[in-house]
Amino acid sequence: MARLIDGKEISKQIKDELKEEVGRLSRKGVKICLAVIQVGKDPASSVYVNNKKKACAYIGIDSRAYELPENISEEELVGLVERLNADDSVNGILVQLPLPAHIDEDRIIRTISPDKDVDGFHPVSVGRLWLGEKGFVSCTPAGIIELLKRSGVEIEGKECVIVGRSNIVGKPMAALLLRENGTVTVTHSRTEDLKEVTKRADILIVAIGKKEFITSEYIKEGAVVIDVGIHRDENNHLCGDVNFTQAEPLASAITPVPGGVGPMTIAMLMNNCVESVRSQEES
Ligand code: GUN
Repeated sequence: MARLIDGKEISKQIKDELKEEVGRLSRKGVKICLAVIQVGKDPASSVYVNNKKKACAYIGIDSRAYELPENISEEELVGLVERLNADDSVNGILVQLPLPAHIDEDRIIRTISPDKDVDGFHPVSVGRLWLGEKGFVSCTPAGIIELLKRSGVEIEGKECVIVGRSNIVGKPMAALLLRENGTVTVTHSRTEDLKEVTKRADILIVAIGKKEFITSEYIKEGAVVIDVGIHRDENNHLCGDVNFTQAEPLASAITPVPGGVGPMTIAMLMNNCVESVRSQEES
């Protein structure tokens, strides 16, 4: 029977720690403001954006919402981001993705100042991560490292296998696990004999975007299994990229869906917002 890694509880601890720190900063006169930009009214994006605003309110971070029409031009959006870059009262800028098809997402991400890039998506942030320099780290992989550390899972020297090579999860996850001295393998849709590779994992991180893809044949007994996926099953219940019923008896520890990785992403976004003023205080 696996130990459940409770992302809801751990994310609550992190948010409470941040709330205290923000309170201390506020008493010293330091305020934190996150600008959140949403283009259009995609319902899933609205849920994410609302959750981010709620977390800001809980911790004591000001959030400034920009709800823009679906047909806004790329130039207008670039103009807004540039104004926010120049606005000293804004510490972090988040442009909710995906953007409508007529807007070049990469151009928008590259327009955000790396010093306000709380999503960690800018190429400068990615470069800093791989070089081991200080900078913003993509929130989901940063949250997974916190989950592992706060659950007492040792990373150093361990076989870490990542399934999925996205820019937002798989690739930064590899950099972070390397930084913790893990031995890292990144697998993907073209990996030959995937099961043979995943069965070597002491820590298996699955971010493949396929419902319940990882079954018992992919998992070594005693592995720690981290599930980044989120889907609806045939009964409309939430489920992940891992078949939980099959994985749980084999794993030594496992994240549930929901309540595992998901809540950590927002907690780490909040941490990045606080980091934006921590680094200013040091410089
Ligand atoms: N859309 C889905 N996840 C994310 C995220 O972490 N950041 C942004 N900006 N958009 C997203």
